[in-house]
Amino acid sequence: MNNNQKKRVFSGIQPSGNLHIGNYLGALKNWVAEQHKYENVFCIVDLHALTTPQDPAVLYQKTREVTLLYLAAGLSREHCAIFAQSHIAAHSELTWLLNCVTPIGWLERMTQYKDKAAKQESVGTGLVDYPVLMAADIILYDTHYVPVGEDQRQHVELTRDIAQRFNHLYGETFVLPEVLIPKAGARIKGMDDPTAKMSKSGDKQGHALHLLDPPDVLRKSIMRATTDSLNKIAFDKENQPGVYNLLNIYQAITGHSEEEIIAEFDGKGYGNLKKGVTEAVIATLEPIQKRYYEMAEDPAYIEQALKEGADRVRPIAEHRLQVAQKNMGLRK
Ligand code: AMP
Ligand code: TRP
Repeated sequence: MNNNQKKRVFSGIQPSGNLHIGNYLGALKNWVAEQHKYENVFCIVDLHALTTPQDPAVLYQKTREVTLLYLAAGLSREHCAIFAQSHIAAHSELTWLLNCVTPIGWLERMTQYKDKAAKQESVGTGLVDYPVLMAADIILYDTHYVPVGEDQRQHVELTRDIAQRFNHLYGETFVLPEVLIPKAGARIKGMDDPTAKMSKSGDKQGHALHLLDPPDVLRKSIMRATTDSLNKIAFDKENQPGVYNLLNIYQAITGHSEEEIIAEFDGKGYGNLKKGVTEAVIATLEPIQKRYYEMAEDPAYIEQALKEGADRVRPIAEHRLQVAQKNMGLRK
């Protein structure tokens, strides 16, 4: 490893819809905050997006949009390699090798798979295989840390199991990665339904707070957020999931302690809490949106960034793939 032995981080987001505050607080914000500590590889996982139906023109567009949002949120091209998953063929190639050491039962047990499969009439092979592609993404780069939201914990644990099994069968080949999950913001819920994960799919008004929503749309969604009739400000996930979600967003943005936040909002009503959250969200997203729209004026810049990112880390991936191929008896 070069770069003074810094540990390597890998993570990614699917270009399958509009990025929201859950993606930001659960993942992107922490990548930006810690980028100087690590050697960073951040992917736009377009092959993962194909596991659910996508319009080709929209997928192409969204891949560029997510790239720009990475940069607008503050990832530096100097410190981070940013690229599209499909631009490095080793991701697909290693997936096949890993498929051949992964019991199907491990994949059928994944909760995200079970949730998504239950919503579809016919389940594609890609949807079952999704975590194996994710394992390939991670272990191709000798990754130490994977910063993600809570919903991806199980996939990173599975990645360790797959890598371990490969190492056991074919000899030491892959580094076993560890998951990094933020204390606040790892599991943001919908504004309309604080029992459901905020998600990209479905453009239901008032569900997600999108990173590119104009301030008045953000304000409307937050002011209409589902709460309760207890009229109490407390971090009580069980009994007050709506209030908890708003407090959690506020905590993830400000970094204040629970006590400080309770002291700030206690006894002043839900309207006041919602106003505070609205201001914090808008203050966070406005500068990101400004940088996004400035950069969006130069499409050539995005293409160049994606190409440069892929060119920089392709040799790392190709090397690890070749070691795996050699250990499996595919090459000398
Ligand atoms: P995805 O939208 O599934 O591509 O997720 C990209 C990243 O955002 C992953 O690290 C997820 O764990 C994280 N993430 C997605 N939804 C949420 C959410 N509602 N709350 C916190 N993190 C999330
Ligand atoms: N499965 C992740 C998600 O939907 C995205 C992803 C793909 C990823 N490959 C990855 C995240 C590798 C971290 C590391 O959130």
